[in-house]
Amino acid sequence: MLNFEFKNPTKIIFGKGEISKISREIPKTEKILVLYGGGSIKTNGVYDQVKAALEGYNWEEFGGIPANPEYEVLLEALKIIKEKNITYMLAVGGGSVIDGVKFLSAAANYEGEPWDILKNGIRTEEGKGLPFASVLTLPATGSEMNSGAVISRREIGQKLGMGGPGLFPQFSILDPEVIRSIPKKQIANGITDAYTHVLEQYMTVKTSATLQDRFAESILQTLQEIAPKMMEEEFDYDSAANFMWSCTMALNGLIQKGVISDWAIHGIGHELTAQFGIDHARTLAIIAPSHYRYNFEAKKEKLAQYAERVWNVTEGTTEEKALKGIEKMEAFFQSLGIKTKLSEYTEDYQGTAEKIQEAFIARNWLAIGEKGIVKPEDAKKIVEMAY
Ligand code: NZQ
Ligand code: ZN
Repeated sequence: MLNFEFKNPTKIIFGKGEISKISREIPKTEKILVLYGGGSIKTNGVYDQVKAALEGYNWEEFGGIPANPEYEVLLEALKIIKEKNITYMLAVGGGSVIDGVKFLSAAANYEGEPWDILKNGIRTEEGKGLPFASVLTLPATGSEMNSGAVISRREIGQKLGMGGPGLFPQFSILDPEVIRSIPKKQIANGITDAYTHVLEQYMTVKTSATLQDRFAESILQTLQEIAPKMMEEEFDYDSAANFMWSCTMALNGLIQKGVISDWAIHGIGHELTAQFGIDHARTLAIIAPSHYRYNFEAKKEKLAQYAERVWNVTEGTTEEKALKGIEKMEAFFQSLGIKTKLSEYTEDYQGTAEKIQEAFIARNWLAIGEKGIVKPEDAKKIVEMAY
């Protein structure tokens, strides 16, 4: 097991009706900005619950943060934060709203040009961000309990990551009841995103970190188990609760401690969102199978372990089991109605692989993924395999 440090300061408040506890967590002296997305919270009752909990507080609101949070929109919120002397932010939404708020947390106390935070990967250290919390409305990204964010700037076709230990939410409220109003398309996205987060931290080399392996496999199996229930029309609270908690546990840092992780699927996937606007999770389902086929030699032992332990594949050689594992994974994404080829999303896919290769070279991303095995020319080939 590799050496590691682990600190996750986010308090989780989990369960039915818990949104009212906002008032227990934020001091009455704070000047709050509530931030949200395109308006789903106004029709599903979440906004009303937040408003009731903020009775007696001094608060303002900022709506309209789009999916794949947009830099230009966030700059408008930054202006309000400065003009109104905001001291605390409350993100009410999915990964996009929470990520947008993390960017604002970093930018509020940053002296230079805000874009530099993304362009130069400037980290926000502990105690340096503007304090914030979240009410999660869409389980998927794990943003509610981690310190990373991904911000888009459509004007220049960029989607870049950022973060730092100062960007954990102080608390996050996870009420599975919010899942009732989520369209099935977004549920499928959430399951796929969380599933791939586990894969990115697990599907590398065989490890002696037995506990981390078992944690990862149990999250994958739980997601597989609850997926059919989540895709049914009828709402099942316990499945929703397991779905929500699995998504958080998939990316709160725990399972990646002491192991080698990958993240090339995300690195390449973000380019597909930047170029075509494809939903984040769907870009992962497009890239993952090709990535595992292309890097088969490096990953086959772990792929075989995945097939055995997660899918009960008992027959065959290591190579046969590993291939079966990739097939099972792809079939799982497809069972959620998620297409796994780029050409199923756009007719305009020719040349995408070359563009991604060039973008990686321009950004100096010369060796990404597990042990840096994915060079720009490999990324190109992986994308071509995903056409
Ligand atoms: O904007 P509104 O009207 O609220 O609608 C949203 C949005 O259209 C809707 N929605 C959310 N909760 C709902 C709901 N609709 C009905 N009922 C509810 N309860 O769902 C749509 C998608 O929301 P969004 O926040 O964009 O989805 P998601 O949570 O999947 O976030 C995606 C973003 O997170 C980034 C992605 O790259 C992408 O930009 N990621 C962040 C990560 C992190 N911070 O750790 C890691 C991930 O790998 C990912 O990269
Ligand atoms: Zn993701």
